[in-house]
Amino acid sequence: MSNGSRRRGCTHWLGTAAVSENFLPYGRQTIDDDDVASVVEVLRSDYLTTGPVGAEMETAFRAATGSHHAVSCSSGTAALHLAALALGLGEGDWAIVPSLTFVATANAMRFVGADVIFCDVDPDTGLMTPETLEVALVAARSAGVWVKAVFPVQLNGQCCDMAAIRQISQDKGIAVVEDACHTLGGRDMEGARVGACSHSDMACFSLHPVKVITAGEGGVVTTNDMELAGKLEALRNHGIQREPGTFSNAELAFDEYGAANPWYYEMPEIGFNYRLSDIHAALALSQIAKLEAFTARRRTLVARYDAALAGLTPIVRPFARMPGQNPAWHLYVVLIDFEAAGVSRAQVMNQLREAGIGTQVHYLPVHRQPYYAERGEPVDLPGADAYYARALSLPLFTTMSDDDVDRVVGALTDIIEGRG
Ligand SMILES: Cc1ncc(COP(=O)(O)O)c(C=O)c1O
Repeated sequence: MSNGSRRRGCTHWLGTAAVSENFLPYGRQTIDDDDVASVVEVLRSDYLTTGPVGAEMETAFRAATGSHHAVSCSSGTAALHLAALALGLGEGDWAIVPSLTFVATANAMRFVGADVIFCDVDPDTGLMTPETLEVALVAARSAGVWVKAVFPVQLNGQCCDMAAIRQISQDKGIAVVEDACHTLGGRDMEGARVGACSHSDMACFSLHPVKVITAGEGGVVTTNDMELAGKLEALRNHGIQREPGTFSNAELAFDEYGAANPWYYEMPEIGFNYRLSDIHAALALSQIAKLEAFTARRRTLVARYDAALAGLTPIVRPFARMPGQNPAWHLYVVLIDFEAAGVSRAQVMNQLREAGIGTQVHYLPVHRQPYYAERGEPVDLPGADAYYARALSLPLFTTMSDDDVDRVVGALTDIIEGRG
């Protein structure tokens, strides 16, 4: 089947499973004709990569987040990996990561050879807290390991208490990198834009299609530190430096008059090809212009879910809200007491699927993944386990209608009240 017939036909493709046209996935992109035009323009231009659109997209991202530097790359995972490299994390170093996250946050530590200390989260928000961070630091101290970085995850669209997390970390010389892959377009408790790095060294974003805006695949690291930005730029391009002031081999780099040879570059350290193509950047650039509209629509949908689900408390509750934030909701998670409901999570998911509604679980705590469970000492993270035991992500995407929300809540209500 061609892509064209797939798009026009009556199916969506979720992995290998085809489902009906009015199926509501838990998340999906919103692409308009102007997004398509933006990409086509690049396809017809001279530069498919490392061209002017990539730079324009970074400028727009800086403006959207209020950061001094925005370094684009090929995915949110690449953004986390680059951040870990830029900090100089490596073998013998330890980093604290909340267990309630996508595996990529922890994996980025392992890519550079660092070890992970998993931190617990609040059972109702799923967020790392100053208290859970302190507990992880005490555990690190008693194990005699030196923590070099902490990677708080801004889950679902909400921010951790970053001022407190920064304070705790700064006192101990620990770098702070936000995994903000869920949170582009949000504001924290102090009204600062996510990505402005008011209380962190760097923030990492994903532009995957289920996120608030997309590049198809893509990522960005924001920072206010010029030195880190320079490292990130070099590391996403093999570690190559083109700035004559950094060249170490003068004989090869310069001619007899001291001018830099025009072909010359140096690779003082090893990096990767994590560049974002201009094709992807064009889509992201077009989408950034809609960020406010998309986040506003998501807030409206979340408010409608909250009101419609009120009748199902205490068995079904939306995850808890942090005070004073203006989040950019990525996921709408309900916490369900499956035991009290007399129905398992798999049954709820299967019955919703039969009703044409996709759901997902974000996330199995990463310390329970076999790779990590087999690597380290067993850890007890009751907050992460309690959140995971109840979590179910309901559909949330910009083009959902109010009726779609009502349909999801109606179907869930039928299941919980035994009419499913
Ligand atoms: C919290 C979190 N971190 C990192 C990532 C990785 O982003 P990407 O899929 O763009 O590599 C994701 C993506 O789902 C995520 O949700």
